[in-house]
Amino acid sequence: MATLAQPSLFDAPYIHDLASELEAFSFNGDRTVVEHRNGVAYFFNEFWTARQRQAHSIHEISYRACFKPQLPDFFIQRLTKPGDIIYDPFMGRGTTPIQAVLTGRVGTGNDINPLSILLTRPRINPPSLSAIKDRLDMLDLRFGKVQHEELEVFFHPETLAEIEMLRSYFFRREASGKFDHVDDWIRMVAINRLTGHSSGFFSVYSLPPNQAVSVEGQRRINEKRGQVPPRRSVKDIIFKKSRTLLRDRVPQSGKAILLTGDATNCGLGDATVDLVVTSPPFLDIVQYAADNWLRCWFAGIEAAEVDIAMHKKVEDWTSFTHRVLADLARVTRRGGHIAYEVGEVRNGKVELDSLVLEAAVGLPLDPIGVLVNVQEFTKTANCWGVSNNSKGTNTNRIVIFSRR
Ligand SMILES: C[S@@+](CC[C@H](N)C(=O)[O-])C[C@H]1O[C@@H](n2cnc3c(N)ncnc32)[C@H](O)[C@@H]1O
Repeated sequence: MATLAQPSLFDAPYIHDLASELEAFSFNGDRTVVEHRNGVAYFFNEFWTARQRQAHSIHEISYRACFKPQLPDFFIQRLTKPGDIIYDPFMGRGTTPIQAVLTGRVGTGNDINPLSILLTRPRINPPSLSAIKDRLDMLDLRFGKVQHEELEVFFHPETLAEIEMLRSYFFRREASGKFDHVDDWIRMVAINRLTGHSSGFFSVYSLPPNQAVSVEGQRRINEKRGQVPPRRSVKDIIFKKSRTLLRDRVPQSGKAILLTGDATNCGLGDATVDLVVTSPPFLDIVQYAADNWLRCWFAGIEAAEVDIAMHKKVEDWTSFTHRVLADLARVTRRGGHIAYEVGEVRNGKVELDSLVLEAAVGLPLDPIGVLVNVQEFTKTANCWGVSNNSKGTNTNRIVIFSRR
C-alpha cells in the first residue's frame, strides 16, 4: 500500500530575500557563518541533511554525480510557487524536474544524453503497480537467443537472453508505434537494474549501478573474486524495484517539458523560467559516456555520438560556463533565480564557484551569494576550505544569481 509522502521536504515559506534568510538560517542551534570573498557573501551551514525527512521514493534510481532531492527542493520551496516553471539544463536522472513536479511546479529539464529523458519521463506520471504487473505477466521472455556473448561476463546466459528479448521487445514496440507509458516505465527500471553490486541487479557483482565497467574490467573483477554470473529473473527484479519506487504516492497531474540538447542553446523560449537548479559536469572528473555505455546499449543509444562536455582546462570550462549562463539568463524571467551547484575539484585546488562567478561577468545576473552546504556542520565549522579529499566533492557549493 503506497503511503502519502509529504511532497515537500521543507516547511519553508516562499521568500523574497534569500540572502537574509540564509544568514538567519539556523540548524540544530548552529547559525550560518557568513564570509565575504571578493565582495561576494559565502553562507556556510548544514542547510539540508541526510537526517532530514526522507526524499520521495520515486527519486531512488542511481546516476553518476546526481544530487540529492533536498538540494533542488531547498530552492524550489523558497523561491517559487506552485505552477512556476523550474528548469535544469543538465538534468541527469531528472532530480530537479521530478522534485518540481512533486511539489506542484512545472518540471523542465534538458540533457545532452538522450538517456536522461528515458530515466526521467516515466517517473513524472508513473503507471500503477498493477498495470506494470499485468504488462510483465504478458511479456514472454523465454526461449531467446544470446546475440551479445561478450556480455556474458556480466550476466548468466539465460538472464542475458531475457535482457536481449526485452530489449528487442522495446525496439519492436517503438517501431510499430505501440510503445506506451507502461513500456516506458519498464524500460527505465530495466536500464537501472542492468549492473550493480547486489542480487537486486541482473548482473553478477560489479561496480555500483551508475558506473558500468568495461567488458575487460568485468572479466578482471570476476577473476579476482572467483565469480560467475548467477541466474536472475529479469521480470522479478523489475517488479520488485517498481514496488520500491512507487512506495510513496505520486501525483498524477505532473507537468513536465523534457529536452535533449546542448545546455548552451536549449529549446525553451525567452523569459519563460522562474528558477533554474542545476549541476554541470565538473571539469573532466566524471566519465559520463564510459559510465553509461551499457545503459545506452540497452536503450539503443549510440553513446559515442553523445557530445558530453569534457573540459580539462579551467579556461575552457569557464568559457563553457559563460555560454551556459548566457542561455540561462535568456530563458529566466526578470526577478527569477539561478542556483548553480559546483564543488571543489583537484584536491580543493580549483574552486569552481569562483569560476562560475567569473563566467557570469557581463551577463544580466546579480550574484546573491554562494551557499556552502556542509555535512556535519558542527564538527567541521572550523576547517572551511580544507574539506575536499579525492575525486569529486564533499560539500555542495551553490552559486545563486538573480536575473536582473
Ligand atoms: C552532474 S550531472 C547532473 C546530475 C543531475 N543533477 C542529477 O541529479 O541527476 C551532469 C549532466 O550533464 C550532462 N551534460 C554534459 N554535457 C552537457 C551539455 N553540453 N549539455 C547538456 N548536458 C550535458 C551529462 O550527461 C550529465 O547528465
